[in-house]
Amino acid sequence: SPSDPDLVARARAAKEKLGSKVFVLGHHYQRDEVIQFADVTGDSFKLAKDAAARPEAEYIVFCGVHFMAESADILTSDDQKVVLPDLAAGCSMADMATAEQVAECWDVLADAGITDVTVPVSYMNSSADIKAFTGKHGGTICTSSNAKRALDWAFEQGEKVLFLPDQHLGRNTAVREMGMSLDDCVVYNPHKPNGGLTAEQLRGAKMILWRGHCSVHGRFSLDSVNDVRERIPGVNVLVHPECKHEVVAAADHVGSTEYIIKALEAAPAGSKWAIGTELNLVKRLADRFAPEGKEVVFLDRTVCFCSTMNRIDLPHLVWALESLAEGNLVNQIQVDRETESFAKLALERMLALP
Ligand code: 13P
Ligand code: SF4
Repeated sequence: SPSDPDLVARARAAKEKLGSKVFVLGHHYQRDEVIQFADVTGDSFKLAKDAAARPEAEYIVFCGVHFMAESADILTSDDQKVVLPDLAAGCSMADMATAEQVAECWDVLADAGITDVTVPVSYMNSSADIKAFTGKHGGTICTSSNAKRALDWAFEQGEKVLFLPDQHLGRNTAVREMGMSLDDCVVYNPHKPNGGLTAEQLRGAKMILWRGHCSVHGRFSLDSVNDVRERIPGVNVLVHPECKHEVVAAADHVGSTEYIIKALEAAPAGSKWAIGTELNLVKRLADRFAPEGKEVVFLDRTVCFCSTMNRIDLPHLVWALESLAEGNLVNQIQVDRETESFAKLALERMLALP
């Protein structure tokens, strides 16, 4: 997308002034106008690792959403400051599990007598509070690129997993990659008494899935897959594991944003791809691979951008960089010490996964 040349020049100047004091991270779902200023781009796993690997940067400017900036704050040292250019860049999925609701859920599991054998596994897309809960109760964080390894690890520690907050990633990983059946999974609804489950149902399940989802990926349907196959014969359907189970089951390939990019890099010229993930990334991939003769289309043309990822635009980035260059720390994301220590435990378990 065309970006205002004046703003581009200002961003460049502010970044130059800051030099190695600033490190800009950009998630793959960010706008082109923002991603051009990222020192590193990646999926949420890669960005968490990259944030931790930059001890010399005083400021980490996180072009992504709130939970990612929190994770970066947790993984960086105390004197490094993490900045989110627009504080309204949240994530509706992360908001679907609050600390209060999760504590209540744990009580329900305790009443069913299963907390001793249940290991929490929380998707990166969750608040620092949920990560702290996870760390406190012996669990780990996962991302869409290591969910299977996280579940393998969790089932070595216990008999059941409480998977937060994305039911789809939990179910897709359990069924597609771990050989479980749909009947091994139950869904805990935080808006119903006892999660809408009986103690027998809880005791009978291997995977207790939190009733959360991504509103962007949730809009892809089985019809989207069938329609694109009809429209483009021979198309490869490649979707993110935040999509519903029926979509993932009908797709040819499933993986994180980083996986999607690698798959297209490795694809032969002449191949055709329909991608089920956020639109900024798909558009960028379509432009990038067209000259190589790889056709990349959006899985469903009615699905749109992630509105909170899109909150970070060039004006906000310029404002953040110029403020930092003038010595004003703005929009710092800071997790309190106690939450941080438990959340860090859970994140470090993830980083230590084989
Ligand atoms: P990944 O970057 O880990 O694939 O996650 C996608 C996502 O929804 C981030 O919000
Ligand atoms: Fe959250 Fe979905 Fe947006 Fe990712 S794409 S930030 S999961 S709402």
